[in-house]
Amino acid sequence: MMMMMMMMMTQVQSTPSSLVSSLTYTPRLAIRASRDHVCADTLKSHIPSGSSSSRSLCSCGRKHFLEAASPKMPFVPIYYPNASRSKDVSETFHPQRPDWYKELFAWFLSTGMRSYEAEIADYKKKLFDNLTGKAEKVLEIGVGTGPNLKYYVSNENVCVFGMDPNHKMEKYACESAKEAGLKPENFRFIQGVGEAIPLDDDSVDAVVATLVLCSVSDVTQTLNEIKRVLKPGGIFIFIEHVAAEDGSFFRNIQNVLDPLQQVVADGCHLTRNTGLYISAAGFGGGTEINTAAIYSFPWIIRPHVYGVAYK
Ligand SMILES: C[S@@+](CC[C@H](N)C(=O)[O-])C[C@H]1O[C@@H](n2cnc3c(N)ncnc32)[C@H](O)[C@@H]1O
Repeated sequence: MMMMMMMMMTQVQSTPSSLVSSLTYTPRLAIRASRDHVCADTLKSHIPSGSSSSRSLCSCGRKHFLEAASPKMPFVPIYYPNASRSKDVSETFHPQRPDWYKELFAWFLSTGMRSYEAEIADYKKKLFDNLTGKAEKVLEIGVGTGPNLKYYVSNENVCVFGMDPNHKMEKYACESAKEAGLKPENFRFIQGVGEAIPLDDDSVDAVVATLVLCSVSDVTQTLNEIKRVLKPGGIFIFIEHVAAEDGSFFRNIQNVLDPLQQVVADGCHLTRNTGLYISAAGFGGGTEINTAAIYSFPWIIRPHVYGVAYK
């Protein structure tokens, strides 16, 4: 199992082009009226009281702050299904695993991806530079243990929703947020899936997904959800490992190992043509997709695509 998980560690050896977005803010009046309020108020208003997510606030000190925030804010940009339905939706789209499995996977991501993160750091910096000064509200789907959170802090007022179906990721993600220097009130872990994002239409400036679309149950639905929650002009940033070329030796190996990978790596598919899905998703503002050559271990997930798409 660890062997397969270790295969998540790869190296991207290409340089992304300069990708400059020009996000526009065209939210509804309520959003505009509330933009200057502290992020915690915003976050609180997104989650109805009694929902599992509102109860499972991050344990790194922001709970009291959020509880103190007024629930009566006029700012209600976020759709959130009732708690039981939300849980049902997550269970529909994400395979149920025992707690020990979720914990083990979270632990592995927190410890086993360090060399990958070191290798890909420059590359991520360039991609996330697209957010600087432009993205105040960011949703990261499949946030995992939060390796990307440090790339948001150049935006002083950034508010990040870190969403993941595996609640065992929460403590790691909160710790990463703290280490990154994100203000406590500006990070919120949400349990949820990309196929049913619990946010309102046109409510975030940016959506980020790294090594996630390989794991969702429905890629097209997830991309539709990303487009739905992005504000007009909003940016989608992605880095994904994808299927090797059809008919190639690597692809044949991937075909054989794919079912095993899904079992040991929480639904991760080796043979997804995620770049094609993103191209076909119809991001109105254009899509830039690059491929990356990966030379280091693990070869099984060598091909990567990365880039940006604009709503
Ligand atoms: C390989 S990890 C990547 C985590 C993190 N993005 C990173 O770059 O390290 C895949 C993540 O996607 C999450 N995930 C799985 N299915 C998902 C879904 N349907 N919607 C959103 N996230 C999902 C997993 O729980 C896991 O945290």
